[in-house]
Amino acid sequence: MNLRNTRVLLTGAAGGIGAATAHALARAGAELAVAGRTGAELQKLCAGIGAHGGKAQPVIADLTSFAGRQALAEEATRRLGGVDLLVNLAGQLDFTPFEAEDPVAIERLMQVNLIAPIQLTRLLLPAMLKQGSGRIVNVGSAFGSIGFPYFAVYSSSKFGLRGFSQALRRELHGSGVGVTYVAPRATRTPLNSSAVVRMNEALKVAMDPPEQVAAAIVRAIEQERAEVYLGWPEKLFTRLNAVWPGLVDGALRKQHAIMRKFAHGA
Ligand SMILES: NC(=O)c1ccc[n+]([C@@H]2O[C@H](COP(=O)([O-])OP(=O)(O)OC[C@H]3O[C@@H](n4cnc5c(N)ncnc54)[C@H](OP(=O)(O)O)[C@@H]3O)[C@@H](O)[C@H]2O)c1
Repeated sequence: MNLRNTRVLLTGAAGGIGAATAHALARAGAELAVAGRTGAELQKLCAGIGAHGGKAQPVIADLTSFAGRQALAEEATRRLGGVDLLVNLAGQLDFTPFEAEDPVAIERLMQVNLIAPIQLTRLLLPAMLKQGSGRIVNVGSAFGSIGFPYFAVYSSSKFGLRGFSQALRRELHGSGVGVTYVAPRATRTPLNSSAVVRMNEALKVAMDPPEQVAAAIVRAIEQERAEVYLGWPEKLFTRLNAVWPGLVDGALRKQHAIMRKFAHGA
């Protein structure tokens, strides 16, 4: 997909990976509607993009409700005159022993990570099909392929997003509208609490800079890739978990004590 003059709705745009992706898309010539909950953050982002000659407009939206998603889809379409590329990047994370999860927060996380991307796609897809071109990009996670202890809710939201992406990509074959699923590994952004960062250090898990992830997302769009998994050895574990999950059970069991310690707030 050629990004020059492509009209993009990007959710989670003020976050770590989101801001880097917004800048990278704007550098490639895209025209952006950047979505988030805080006007000041979005204004700062748009000013930064504008200072480098790019085009971006802020749209304030909370993705936990259908009303918020509908208003976002309508406002982005109105401001840009249509949406050619939807990047579902907003996300929440919860690193907690499952029995201690706040039941209401479970629903919120599923709304933002899974229901919002599905409904935004539903709202914007008809116009893309009508024009015979477009792309949906869903940002998942390595944990969308590997069920990870103490990230049960987050993992299930990203497993769902991966399944949605695969099914829809197959359904839309030949329509001119493509679907890309990008699965980053751990990345240095505010999404990860200090407990997650300390656990990653203890487990010697590498954390990528957000700019590197943003560059991979833009490359995946330009190359119209179906699925992209980032990082080594995460790529290998993703495949192993699909064909030989017992092996990954064993590997994770060895690390369980460290994970439990940090999940319990060490
Ligand atoms: N960081 C990692 O280690 C990592 C690894 C793999 C995958 N990912 C995925 O990458 C994506 C971006 O994550 P990040 O690391 O950039 O996280 P981040 O810095 O915490 O940013 C998350 C973004 O999601 C938005 N968001 C959260 N709840 C929202 C809601 N109710 N309504 C609207 N927007 C909401 C936030 O918007 P506000 O600006 O309004 O707060 C924020 O911009 C997520 O989907 C995440 O799952 C991240």
